[in-house]
Amino acid sequence: MRDLSGCVAVVTGAARGIGAAIAQRYASEGAKLVLVDIEQEALNKTADAIKEKGVEVLSVNLDLTKPGAAKSLVAESVEKFSRIDVLVNNAGVIRVKPFLDTTEEDWDYIHDINARALFFVMQATAKQMLQQSPRSNGRPLGKIINMASVAGRTGRKFMGAYSASKAAVIMTTQTAASELAPRVTVNSICPGPVDTDMWIKIDKEWAAIEGRPVGSVWKDRANAVPMGRGEQPTDVAAMASFLASEDSDFITGQSYHVDGGVLML
Ligand SMILES: NC(=O)c1ccc[n+]([C@@H]2O[C@H](COP(=O)([O-])OP(=O)(O)OC[C@H]3O[C@@H](n4cnc5c(N)ncnc54)[C@H](O)[C@@H]3O)[C@@H](O)[C@H]2O)c1
Repeated sequence: MRDLSGCVAVVTGAARGIGAAIAQRYASEGAKLVLVDIEQEALNKTADAIKEKGVEVLSVNLDLTKPGAAKSLVAESVEKFSRIDVLVNNAGVIRVKPFLDTTEEDWDYIHDINARALFFVMQATAKQMLQQSPRSNGRPLGKIINMASVAGRTGRKFMGAYSASKAAVIMTTQTAASELAPRVTVNSICPGPVDTDMWIKIDKEWAAIEGRPVGSVWKDRANAVPMGRGEQPTDVAAMASFLASEDSDFITGQSYHVDGGVLML
C-alpha cells in the first residue's frame, strides 16, 4: 500500500468494476474521494461501503456525456474539497459488433463517453490543477490517469468503434502530457480482458455473433493470459495507485499495459 493521505482523487465510472476497485484502493491509502457514475443506485452502494471505513466521499450522479458535465463535476469537487490532486478518467462503454454492422449510433454512443467526455473531463480538471499549489515542494500540481485498453493498441475483431475510442485515449494522453508537463502528469492504463460486468456483456455479445456458448469467449481469453489467470479489477487498481503516488512523479505521457502479458510490445 502507498500513502495517499489527504490526496483528493476524482474517479469516474466508480460504481462498479475497475472504477470501484480503484476507489477502494485509494480509500485504503488515505485519499479523499469524489466518485462519479451515471448509475445512482450502484454508486451509492459503493460510496456507502467506503464511507463506512471513515473515508470522506462525495458522490456525484452524472452522465458525463451531457453538455457542461465536466465543468460541473470539477466545480462540485472543488466546492467540497478545495482542490483535485488525482483524476481517474475511467468511465467507459462497449458494444461488440462486426465492422459491417456497426452503425453511426454505435460509434457515437461509444466515442461520446470513452473519448469525448474523457477529453473534456481531463481539460476541465487540468485547468483546476494548474491553479493549485503542489501538495509538497517540487511535486506536480496534479496527476491524470486515463483508462485506455490493449484494444487501443491493436485493432480487435468486433471492436472497431471501441478500439478506435481507446486509441484516442492513448493519443490524447500524449497530447495533454506534452502540453501540461512539468506541471501535471498524464498517463494511461491499458488493461487486458478484466473480470467485470463489461466483460460479461462482451462475452454475451461475442458468443451471439459466433454462435458459441455464453461464457466460452471469456474462458478462452482468460486461459490465454501468459500469467495464468483472468485479470481482476484489483490488478488495474495497483497500477492506478502507482500512477497517483509520488513514486510516479517523473513519469508522464505513458500508457501501461496491465494485462498479464497478453500484449508484449
Ligand atoms: N473490463 C475490461 O476488460 C476492460 C479492459 C480494458 C479497458 N477497460 C476500460 O476500463 C473502464 C472500466 O471498465 P469496467 O470493466 O469496470 O466496466 P463496467 O461496465 O463494469 O463499469 C463502467 C462504469 O462506467 C459508468 N459509466 C458508463 N457511462 C457513463 C457515463 N456516461 N457517465 C458516467 N458514468 C458512466 C458505468 O455506469 C459503470 O459503472 C472502461 O473505460 C473500460 O473501457 C475495461
